[in-house]
Amino acid sequence: MIIGSISENVKLEKRVAITPDVIKKYKSLGLDIYLSKDYASHLGINDNLYETEGASILNSDEVLSKSDAILQMNMPEDVILNKLKKNQILIGVLNPYSNEKKLKELISKNINCFSLELLPRITRAQSMDILSSQANLAGYKAVVDSFAYFQKAIPMMMTAAGTISAAKVLVVGAGVAGLQAIATAKRMGAIVFATDVRLASKEQVESLGGKFLTVEGAENLETEGGYAKEASEDFKKKQEELLKETLKKIDIVICTALIPGKKAPVIIKKDMIDEMPSGSVIYDLAASQGGNSELTKVDEIVDANGVKIMGETNILNKLPVSASNLYAKNMFNFTNNLFSKEKKIFEINTEDEIIEKTMVK
Ligand code: NAI
Repeated sequence: MIIGSISENVKLEKRVAITPDVIKKYKSLGLDIYLSKDYASHLGINDNLYETEGASILNSDEVLSKSDAILQMNMPEDVILNKLKKNQILIGVLNPYSNEKKLKELISKNINCFSLELLPRITRAQSMDILSSQANLAGYKAVVDSFAYFQKAIPMMMTAAGTISAAKVLVVGAGVAGLQAIATAKRMGAIVFATDVRLASKEQVESLGGKFLTVEGAENLETEGGYAKEASEDFKKKQEELLKETLKKIDIVICTALIPGKKAPVIIKKDMIDEMPSGSVIYDLAASQGGNSELTKVDEIVDANGVKIMGETNILNKLPVSASNLYAKNMFNFTNNLFSKEKKIFEINTEDEIIEKTMVK
């Protein structure tokens, strides 16, 4: 069986699905790996590094026609999809909500599509969990970028010339990205506050040294799957009052709050931003879902009376090597689970929850 992957559109996506360090793992299963020319040269990884590990470099059309499973980062463009054939497997972050039509066409041609953002959050799937691996890096990078943009020092410094006070950071949404943002900001010496609708996150925030801002009298808005439910009007009002006061003394806000399948909740309103100290930075990781701040603009830096609001949509393009390394390992673990070691074929066993949930139907 052959695994193939072709270059992404590097203007939009710098991450790759296969890194040199996973080639040996695929080979140990008896799989061959075909990659298109200059597959990851934009990351400083030359084709000969892949060849040394045992992959073959071909042109894109050959990769597409010969591979049993095509492993990508994003949904490929139409010209590529049109070249796929019956019984081939396509695995990636296929974004089934916005690519419904394309996926229907692929399924009608009997192409088996697996979208990794649909993975169930169960223990067995943790090593395949691309949402976690990528969100972790995004949380880290949001802190590093916003700190670089902020025009004051972060940690408290006592010098002969006087004392600089520590920067105050608020993390909105304490899921995977938020918890990493808290840990990173703490390590760099900031005073960190965080808020979430899931009460379970309080203990996690506190274990990282953050101060949890509890919306008093609120119910726990957590689904059985561990995700957030949309907040009630009463919750939103109480959260607004709490944050409005807190934001008056906050230097940097990292926004990560999301509700699966819905527009991101608007939590940081214009009137709150108006009262933030000039020079503060809001880094909105929820920008691609509409943003957690009312003034966020996608991939722009908005200046609202001295408060800078950064709306980043693909932050992982800013650390594509680390993001690819983790993604490639997640991808290998997923593919390994799909591959029958006895029969030496990809077996679509829909009794396996991981396979069943990720398969687009
Ligand atoms: P996410 O990216 O969907 O959302 C980010 C955070 O925003 C969540 O913590 C959510 O509760 C919060 N949020 C939503 N609306 C909000 C609002 N109005 N105000 C404040 N916060 C708000 O979440 P993520 O990071 O994907 O994590 C979701 C859950 O999955 C968590 O419970 C996490 O611990 C769990 N998880 C479980 C894994 C497993 O394998 N068992 C792996 C990774 C995550």
